[in-house]
Amino acid sequence: MRKELSAIVGGIRPVDEETSFIGAKSANETHHYVERDRLVTLKALQNAIYPVLEKYLNRNNCHSVLEVGCGTGFFSRWLAPQWLQGQLVSLEINPAALKEASKLFPNGNLLWASVYRLPVGNEKLDAIIGLSSFDSLLFLTKALKEAHRSLKPGGKIILFQDLSTELYYENGEDKSSIGANFASIERYHKDLITDLEERNFHILEGNENCLEAIAVESVEDIESRVDADIPRRNYPIFVGCDRGYSFPVLSKTNMKESGYKKSDIEEWLDTTSLDKIEGTFRSQLSFVEQEAGAGEVIEWVRIRYLVAESI
Ligand SMILES: C[S@@+](CC[C@H](N)C(=O)[O-])C[C@H]1O[C@@H](n2cnc3c(N)ncnc32)[C@H](O)[C@@H]1O
Repeated sequence: MRKELSAIVGGIRPVDEETSFIGAKSANETHHYVERDRLVTLKALQNAIYPVLEKYLNRNNCHSVLEVGCGTGFFSRWLAPQWLQGQLVSLEINPAALKEASKLFPNGNLLWASVYRLPVGNEKLDAIIGLSSFDSLLFLTKALKEAHRSLKPGGKIILFQDLSTELYYENGEDKSSIGANFASIERYHKDLITDLEERNFHILEGNENCLEAIAVESVEDIESRVDADIPRRNYPIFVGCDRGYSFPVLSKTNMKESGYKKSDIEEWLDTTSLDKIEGTFRSQLSFVEQEAGAGEVIEWVRIRYLVAESI
């Protein structure tokens, strides 16, 4: 499949009406801070998505996987497991993003094309993956029709969705706050399910639940992939977010989930008169029952996902 796709790289020129909100923006405008934030919680993100990929893709018999809307390539470069990277072709409509992706990921299999006209024959793909991309499409139904055409019967569409992403989905309403975006993501998700069912997909997973995962890493390990200094503390640091949005660690004050490992910090709390711990009110602190110590970061993420099968 890769040969088929690479043979026409650049051969499809997306037309104006196919470009999305981001098509006109420079990739750098949004890319770097999103990537930095996500890199803080990379292990937790991987812990969330790996089981889904393992469950629905047969790593020994999965030769043609297309990522739609790769942007600057975060999924293919960082998030995808090694076994998948070799099978993956990543497609993007925005040339600026693609240029950035090819700079950052010279070995990636990148393709300039639109999801509305996939450069793939009928029933060729084992899977289509999207990370926060199908919500950006102006014509979701058209994209799903095209996905169905190009997937083999039994082929999977696997979509992961940052919850704190700014949603530009057509039917989204108020975009003024993260809470409103969250609501509209839920709305998008419902529409997506209806649309998929109408296009002959069978929903396998993700109707209701979000993916949640935790990872514990040392500050040094995180710093080895993130170009920023993370503060050292004599207790575990918690970074909880929908996509790693709360960098610098603990700067998000309204996170109810913000907390530390109980046994490590209770004693310390008894000896301090501070009302706020790292920007979080004492009364709002909740504890994660997770083994971690000083110099370690507890990463927590929650993302929406959906897996459907082409029938
Ligand atoms: C929110 S960004 C996500 C990018 C990347 N997946 C990530 O998570 O970093 C959505 C991406 O979908 C791309 N996109 C929008 N419409 C598209 C289309 N018709 N065909 C292919 N990609 C499209 C946008 O250009 C953008 O890069």
